[in-house]
Amino acid sequence: MIVLGIESSCDETSVAVIRDGVLASNLISSQDFHKLYGGVVPELSSRAHLERVLPLVKKALADNNLSVNDLDLIAATAGPGLIGALLVGFIFGKTLARTSGIPFVPVNHIEGHIFSGFLMDTKPDFPFLCLVVSGGHTMLILVESFTSMKILGTTIDDAAGEAFDKVAKMLNLPYPGGPSVQKAAMAGNPGAIDFPIARLSNEFDFSFSGVKTSVLRYIQKLESPPDQEMINNIAASFTASVTGALLNNVRKAIKKYKINTITLTGGVAANSHLREGFIRLGEKYGKKVVIPDFQFCGDNAAMIAFRGLSLHEAGEKFDPAYEPFPSFFSKYITG
Ligand code: KG4
Ligand code: ZN
Repeated sequence: MIVLGIESSCDETSVAVIRDGVLASNLISSQDFHKLYGGVVPELSSRAHLERVLPLVKKALADNNLSVNDLDLIAATAGPGLIGALLVGFIFGKTLARTSGIPFVPVNHIEGHIFSGFLMDTKPDFPFLCLVVSGGHTMLILVESFTSMKILGTTIDDAAGEAFDKVAKMLNLPYPGGPSVQKAAMAGNPGAIDFPIARLSNEFDFSFSGVKTSVLRYIQKLESPPDQEMINNIAASFTASVTGALLNNVRKAIKKYKINTITLTGGVAANSHLREGFIRLGEKYGKKVVIPDFQFCGDNAAMIAFRGLSLHEAGEKFDPAYEPFPSFFSKYITG
């Protein structure tokens, strides 16, 4: 069984091949030029996907001595994401599948992240908890099977990665904000400033706009622009507050639900403070911890190919008229 996966929901064009259950290629072309604008420019993202998707597909096939006729399944991200960006990879994959007589599977990007742990040697055991933390999403999900999931909590305002990006801007740190804030935080004192963690009516929901505003107020009240030491302390204290909120909810869910594994994924899973806290939680409560390699945590097509394969193997069939969707939609996730 040879699966081609295509991801183009935001600023990574990615193409992957899974061959007989083994990942054979995971090519990722990041659109670094968005740095110049301090954020992703949708129109430029779509155009870059358009330029990059065909060369990447050709390379993935050539690297594995494959031709299109060897493919058994094509999976592409259908949403959520930037609609112009999604359309490029989706239409490319669907057209290739249609013209070659190969089954096509539309994949929900978040479901891709949720099952990215299966790309590792140590795989999650059902039922498991998954914390998805990226620039666009923050969700805590109870995963019962490949076709049954429940959202326990989600952000009511900013996504965790978005908060990192915005705080980086306030501190004049380069885009993308997450890695710059982490670098500053490593040299700072996480206990220097007490940035509050929001308490919400749903015990598993998240909110990061309050902590973001607290950081802004704190900077505005300073008599002079923050020096490096102050920047480091703000970054470390902000990181402690955000990761504290994320880990608190995971802890509550571990206590409430019978689960075997906890998994952490999405771009913010690259944060070492969060990773370490997550591993400690798993050890404390005797749960298996699966945190995918960096290449599978950020946006990538390996997770899309795997998710497409899992749906195909579950016997799922898709309407040929299926269209991409910019907002969150999944028939397998409730709540
Ligand atoms: O999953 P991803 O690559 O793309 C989206 O689907 O959003 O996540 C990107 C997000 C950005 O907000 C970026 O700032 C954040 O992940 N990020 C981090 C770190 N590395 C990336 N946030 C905190 N610490 C990091 N080390
Ligand atoms: Zn993502």
